[in-house]
This record gives sequence, structure tokens and C-alpha cells, in this order.
Amino acid sequence: SKICVVRTVDLEDRARRPRVAGHLILRRRTRRTWCAARVLVALSVAVSECCYFLFNLFKTAFASSSSREAMAQSNSSDGFLSQPKGFSTKAIHVGQDPEQWNSMAVVPPISMSTTFKQHGPGQHAGFEYGRSGNPTRDVLERCIASLDNGRFGLTFSSGLGATTTIITMLQNGDHIVAGDDLYGGTNRLLRNVALKMGIEVDFVDLTNMQLVEQAIKPNTRLFWMETPTNPLLKVVDIRAVSEIAHKHPGIVVVVDNTFLSSYLQRPLDLGADVVMYSLTKYMNGHSDVIMGAMVTNDEAVYERLKYLQNAAGIVPSPFDCYLVNRSLKTLALRMERHKSNSLAIARFLETHPKVERVLHPGLPSHPQHELAKRQTYGHSGIMSFYIRGGLEESSNFLKALHVFTLAESLGGYESLAELPSVMTHASVPLQQRQELGITDGLVRLSVGLEDVDDLIADLKQALDKA
Ligand SMILES: *Cc1c(COP(=O)(O)O)cnc(C)c1O
Ligand SMILES: *[C@@H]1O[C@H](CO)[C@@H](O)[C@H](O)[C@H]1NC(C)=O
Ligand SMILES: *[C@@H]1O[C@H](CO)[C@@H](O)[C@H](O)[C@H]1NC(C)=O
Repeated sequence: SKICVVRTVDLEDRARRPRVAGHLILRRRTRRTWCAARVLVALSVAVSECCYFLFNLFKTAFASSSSREAMAQSNSSDGFLSQPKGFSTKAIHVGQDPEQWNSMAVVPPISMSTTFKQHGPGQHAGFEYGRSGNPTRDVLERCIASLDNGRFGLTFSSGLGATTTIITMLQNGDHIVAGDDLYGGTNRLLRNVALKMGIEVDFVDLTNMQLVEQAIKPNTRLFWMETPTNPLLKVVDIRAVSEIAHKHPGIVVVVDNTFLSSYLQRPLDLGADVVMYSLTKYMNGHSDVIMGAMVTNDEAVYERLKYLQNAAGIVPSPFDCYLVNRSLKTLALRMERHKSNSLAIARFLETHPKVERVLHPGLPSHPQHELAKRQTYGHSGIMSFYIRGGLEESSNFLKALHVFTLAESLGGYESLAELPSVMTHASVPLQQRQELGITDGLVRLSVGLEDVDDLIADLKQALDKA
């Protein structure tokens, strides 16, 4: 049942292997060499224990120095935090040891089997039934956890499936403090579903620490935040909000990290308890899988969510797990390109006469540019801008695009553009939209991986027609 624990077993097994081999050789020895062999074994056990101890010592020292490195406020050339070493290596190797499969397959097999043979009643080899655990899912969950410097990972059939499971941890009478600028589906789930379960929800501007403090009630159990927000790119100070929430025992702080991915922001390092993902977006990045995930270091929260993952049955298919696992290998490469493409586009738009204002946390004009540099490793391909005029101008612009596709969603390799007031955020009540600044002139872009010159040329010709 310990299916998704991020184990260091792979390495430990290697350290132990010589001992096992030693025992096998021992059996073949004659009685005359028995004594000498025992001495040899004792010695080799002592040596391997010693190596194992030193290895662990080294590992601990390395882990703490790398977490220190992660905490250090070092700056890269663009002013954002600079990446500690090893992200891509983890993305390519964690959970992937070929020696865990009898076939030694380097790309692990997709295990479609829904059931697993047992040695005897109740004696299984780690897997019983596909809903409660599957080898392909296991590999992915371990890999995702490691990318967030987390111990435990779980995947779900969609991002909202992950959110539903997290909310199911609560009960009638509990209270949630949520950000006021959330993904539409999360907003709908909290307003229309959680409320019906007798859970209270307050939507709060989490960039205002005084409001955050005031929002906490004796029955508050969960903080739900997104940063940067959608579509206004407001940045929430994860460390500050977590500190306020954690003054009250029993509050779990969740960060929906979909917009940046584990490559550009690692909320557990900043004090959050749980990271949630719509893997559908950047983590998979190829616009061909709907899936969600959560990562935590808190064993009690993990056990509860693992129980609910199985009990509620919101699990992904092994084939989709395989696809996301494959996509993670290029996460770092993709995010670097999303980052540089979107910043170049933001700079271009900022100088264009038909553009009123650009919202991109990487621009010095963004009100929380300094905070973004302090808590992230850069910004992804999501950005918004206000076109001068209203619905007519924005519609003309969107219809004139050739390389950008007019569509909802985000985080794929392809560039998308959309109008939140009419498309993704149409369900937000008009008054709330106006208060937030979601006007008919606000265009959201998900900048993809194409050649940036082609993207800029496309925006330029479409702006001419706006
Ligand atoms: C898409 C999205 C979700 C929901 O994820 P699904 O995989 O579509 O269920 C949640 N949060 C954010 C920020 C998203 O962009
Ligand atoms: C990072 O940049 C800030 C200002 O942007 C500066 O004050 C600080 O000293 C820099 N830190 C490092 C480690 O270079
Ligand atoms: C995921 O993909 C990589 C190859 O890019 C491989 O190392 C890994 O084992 C794969 N895992 C699964 C479950 O397919």
C-alpha cells in the first residue's frame, strides 16, 4: 500500500546488493573455509554498513546544502531566483530505475492490468487493484513529487479531480479561505459544490495581508491560492500567506501551481503544505492529456488524500500517466522557451501604440515584479494585455491571428489567444469581472514554443487590423 512514497530505495538497494551476493557465494563454500568465510562476510558487512552510513551522511549533507541553495536568494541574470542544480536529471530519472522491471526496460512498460496476482491471500507484490495503485502511475507520482522537493505525490483524473479530493478532506461546518481571482472551474466547485456540502468559503484578495489575517475563523481548515492568478497575473506572497495561516494549527495551505509548473515555482520550499496541479497544462504541455496531481511533505495529509484517491476513485489511466511522464522529460526545456518567448512578446507589446497595458510578472512595470523575482525562477508563457478600445477591437485582433490559435486552455507547445470576458471567465458575474478588471479589452495569451519572431510578426499584423 506504500505505493507513492518517494523512496530512496533504488540507491539503497545498490548499497545493499553486495551483501546479498556475498551470502549466495557463501552457500557454495565448503566447511573448511566456513570460518574464513564468516570472517570475510562479517568484514564485508561491516564495510558495506560503513559505506552505507557514509553514503547516507553524504546524502543528508547534500540534501541540506541543496535545500539551503534553494532557499538562498541568489539572482540569475534576469533577476529571478537561479535554479539549483539537478532539476532535469530528476525529471528524467526519478522513479525510472530500469532494474525495478524484470525486463529492465529503460522506458517502463505501460501496465494496463486492472488486477495483480497475489502470492497468497493478502500477500501481494505492492499492487492489488488498478484504482488503488498501478505501476505506471506509481512511476509518475514519484517523479512529480521529486520535482517539487516533496516526499509524496498523487495523481488524479483531472486538475479539478485533485481539487475535489482535497476538498473532500473537509467536512460540514469547515471554512475555506480562497483567493478572489481563481481558475473558473475552481471557483465553480467552491461556490456550487463545496457550499452545498455545508462548507463555508470566503474569497479574499490574498495580496493584502491584513485581509488574509482577518479572513481566518476558528473553523478555517484550508487556504486555497493560485499565483500568478488567472487572467490578471496577480502574484501572491506564498511565504507570507503560509506564515499567517500556520499561526493557527490545523490549517492546510494549498497552492495551485498550474501556471508556473514545478520548474518555475516550488511552493513547498516556500512554506505551503500541498501543491496542486492541473497537469493538463504546462506539466504535460502537449495539450493531449487531462490530469491532475498533488504533492506534499505532510505524511498525515498524504495518507488522507491517498485514502480518498482510492475511496472516491478519481484516478487517471495508465496510458495518460505514461504520456505525462514522457512530457516531464522536456519540462525544463519547454519552460525556458515559454519564459523567453513570453518576455520578448511582453516587451514588444509594451511598446505598441494599440496596447494600453501589459500584465507580465517579468516586466518591471508589473506591480509585484520584485516579489515574482524573489519567489519564482521566472515566468511562464501566460500573460495578458489590454488592447485600446473594447469588444470590437479585441475581436478584430483575435480573428486576424494566424500563428496564435483562438482557443481556451493554456500551457501547451502551441500559442493560444483568448478573450476572458467572453470565453474562460464568462461565468464570473459581470460586477465581479468589472471589479477585477476583466474587461472586453483584456486579451490573454498562452505563448507557446514557436519561433518568437513569427509570434511577434503575427501579433503585429493582427494589431494593425484591430
Ligand atoms: C485548468 C486549470 C485547472 C483545472 O484543471 P483540469 O485539468 O482542467 O481539471 C485548475 N487550475 C488552473 C490554474 C487551471 O489552469
Ligand atoms: C539580487 O538582486 C538584488 C536587487 O535586485 C540585490 O539587492 C541582491 O544583492 C542580489 N543578490 C545576489 C545574491 O546577487
Ligand atoms: C517516462 O519517460 C522516460 C523516457 O523519456 C523514461 O525514462 C521513463 O521510464 C518513462 N516512464 C514511464 C512510466 O513511461
